[in-house]
Amino acid sequence: MYVGVDYYPEHWPETRWALDAQMMQKAGFNVVRLGEFAWTNFEPAEGCYDFAWLDRALEVLARHGIRAILGTPTAVVPAWLAHRYPEVMVVDKTGQRRTWGVRKDTCYSSGVLRRFSQAITTALATHYASHPGVIGWQTDNEFGGSNDCRCPACQAAFQDFLRQRYGTLDELNRAWGTHFWGQIFRAWEEVPVIVDTNGQNPSACLDWQRFYSDQNVRYQGEQVQILRRLCPRHFITHNLMGLAPDVNYFNLARDLDFVSWDNYPVWGRPEVRYDAALAADLMRGAKHKNFWIMEQTAGPCGWGSFNRNVRPGELRAVAYQQLAHGADGQIWFRWRTCTAGREQYWHGLLQHDGKPNRRYLEAAQVAREYHLLAPLLEGLSVRAEVAMIYDYDSLWVTRFQGSFEGNDYREQLKRYHRALFRAGIGLDIISPADDFSRYKLVIAPELHLMPDALARRLEAYIEQGGTLLADVRTAVKDGTNLVHDRTLPGLLSSALGIAIPEYDVLADKAEIPLTQGFAGHKATLYTDWIKPTTAETVAGYDAWWLTDYAAITRNRLAKGIAWYVGTIGNTPAFYDGLIARVLADAGITAPLTPPPGVEAVVRSGQGRELLFLINHTEDCQTVPVPTGRKELLTGTTTATTLTLDRHGVAVVQLR
Ligand code: GAL
Repeated sequence: MYVGVDYYPEHWPETRWALDAQMMQKAGFNVVRLGEFAWTNFEPAEGCYDFAWLDRALEVLARHGIRAILGTPTAVVPAWLAHRYPEVMVVDKTGQRRTWGVRKDTCYSSGVLRRFSQAITTALATHYASHPGVIGWQTDNEFGGSNDCRCPACQAAFQDFLRQRYGTLDELNRAWGTHFWGQIFRAWEEVPVIVDTNGQNPSACLDWQRFYSDQNVRYQGEQVQILRRLCPRHFITHNLMGLAPDVNYFNLARDLDFVSWDNYPVWGRPEVRYDAALAADLMRGAKHKNFWIMEQTAGPCGWGSFNRNVRPGELRAVAYQQLAHGADGQIWFRWRTCTAGREQYWHGLLQHDGKPNRRYLEAAQVAREYHLLAPLLEGLSVRAEVAMIYDYDSLWVTRFQGSFEGNDYREQLKRYHRALFRAGIGLDIISPADDFSRYKLVIAPELHLMPDALARRLEAYIEQGGTLLADVRTAVKDGTNLVHDRTLPGLLSSALGIAIPEYDVLADKAEIPLTQGFAGHKATLYTDWIKPTTAETVAGYDAWWLTDYAAITRNRLAKGIAWYVGTIGNTPAFYDGLIARVLADAGITAPLTPPPGVEAVVRSGQGRELLFLINHTEDCQTVPVPTGRKELLTGTTTATTLTLDRHGVAVVQLR
C-alpha cells in the first residue's frame, strides 16, 4: 500500500533532500508526488528541457525506498510562455485577458497551449518511461474552476461543439427554444459565448457548461494518450476535488486508471465528517472503483489567514475515513510548509522549520498501521445496496435557475446521504447512466433533467423489484433544459402513482406541519401539491389550502416500490425517519447503528469483511459491536461493545 506526501524538492536546497527522504522513510512513507507545478524548471526556455534536477531527487528518494508519481506540470505555464504567446491566457467575462501570475488560468481551446502541453508531456514521458522510481502519473492539477474562457477560439470551439451535438441550426434553435425573445440563429457564427448564466438562455447555459467540462476532458485526454503510448507500465490518475461542480467527473474519470482526490476538510466544522464521506462515495462511484487521496490536508490551512490546527487524533481519523470509503493510497499535502509564495500559511505535515513534530508522528503512526492492514485490505471495497444518483446536468441547471428560493442540488443530496451515514448504511454515488439493477434502493434527488429514456429506465427498475426514492422538481425538464409540457412528474407519473397539478414555495422561512406518517415534522421551502392516483398518501400538509393534497407518497408498481417526497423536511430527524422507512421497504439493514458522531463503514471482498469505526467527536464513544471478532489495530477480541477514544478508530474483522 502506498502512503506518502506531496513533495516539492525544487522548493528546498538540494542539501536538504537526503534528510527529507530519511525522515519520510522513517515515517513509513513509500511514495511522493512530484513536479506538478514545475514546468518552468523542466523547460526553462522554449524547447530546452532539463530533467537532471528531478533525476537527482528521484535518486535520493529511491535510496530510501520511496517511489514517485509525476505530475504533468501544465497547471502553471512558464512566464516565458505566457509572455511570448499571450493567447494562451484565459479571457474573462468582461473580455479582459487574464494577467499571468496565479495558476490554472490558461485556455484549453488555445492551439498553442495544447501544443506546448503535449510537448512537455511527451518529453517527460519519454525521459521517465523506464525509470524504476516512477510508478505513475497525475495529469495537470484539479481540472475545473478558474479557467473558463471567452476568447474567440473558445467561441469557435463552442460553435463546433454545438454543430456536433445538434447537426443543424434548426435543431439547435429547437433544442434551445430560441423562439423566446427572438433569439433565432441564422448562422453558426452568431452563437455567442455565455457570460451571464442568470440572464442568458438556460439551454445555452447548460450546453456552455457541458462544453467547458468537455474541454477539460479533451485537454486531459491529449496528455493521457501520450502517457499511454510512452509509459505503458505506469498508471494514470488525476486529483479531482470531491464535490466541485464544474467538470463532469464521470466523464473525466473515463480515461484514467483510477481516480484520486484532494480532501481539504476545514478542521472542526461538524459537517466535515459528512461532506468528506459523500465526496469519497462520489469519487469511488466515478469509476466504480477504489480511489486514492492525492492531497490530504495535514495542518492548518488558508491562503490569506489559516484556520484552526488539527487536534491530536484528527489526522488519523480523517485518513481512516477515506480508507474505509475505499482509498487504496494516501498522500498528505504537503511534506513541509513552504516559506515562499501564496501558500506560506497552507501548512503541511512539517512546519516551516522542517523538524519532526506531532503531526509527522501521527502520520507515521497511520502509515505503520496501514502497512499492517494492507494484506487484509487487498481487493476490498464498499459493496453498497444503496445508490444515489448524482446528475451533473441537474446540478448545473439548478445553479443557473434554482427554481425555488433556497434550493441547492448538492444540499439536497446531503440530506439523504447524512441520514444514511447516521444509519450506518454505505452507498454508491452513481451517474444517471449507470446500471440501477445492482442496487436494492436508488435515491434520485431533484432529477430536474429527465430525458425520456431515463424515465423509462427508472420505471423499469421499479417494475423489476427496485425501490426508488424521488423528490421535488423531478422531471421538470428535458435533456436540453426545456420544460416538459406534461403534468409533473411527467413520464414517471404512473410509476410514482401521482400527478402534481401545482406547486408552491414557502417563503420567509414559513413551515407547514406534516400529517399522518410524518406528524411532528414540518415542510419547508417548497411544496408539491400531489394528487395520488395509485399511490398511498404517507403524509399530507396541515394547512387549510392543502388538505386535498399529499406531501409524501408511496406506490407499488409490479415488484417494486416508488416513494415521492414533495417537500424539504425541516430537520435531520425527518430524513432519519424517511430513510428508515424506505430502507425497510428495500429490505436493507445496517450491521450496527453507530452512536451519533461515530461513522461505521464496511469494506468487503475476497471472503473478508472489515468494519471501520471512526469517532468524529471529541468525546469517548461506546459502540455496540458483534462479539468475538478481532479488532485489528489492537489485536484484541471484541466483547459486546467497543470504546473509541476521542477521534479514535477501530477496524473489526467481521469475516
Ligand atoms: C489544492 C491544490 C494544491 C494546493 C492546495 C492548497 O487545491 O491542488 O496544489 O494549492 O490546494 O491551496
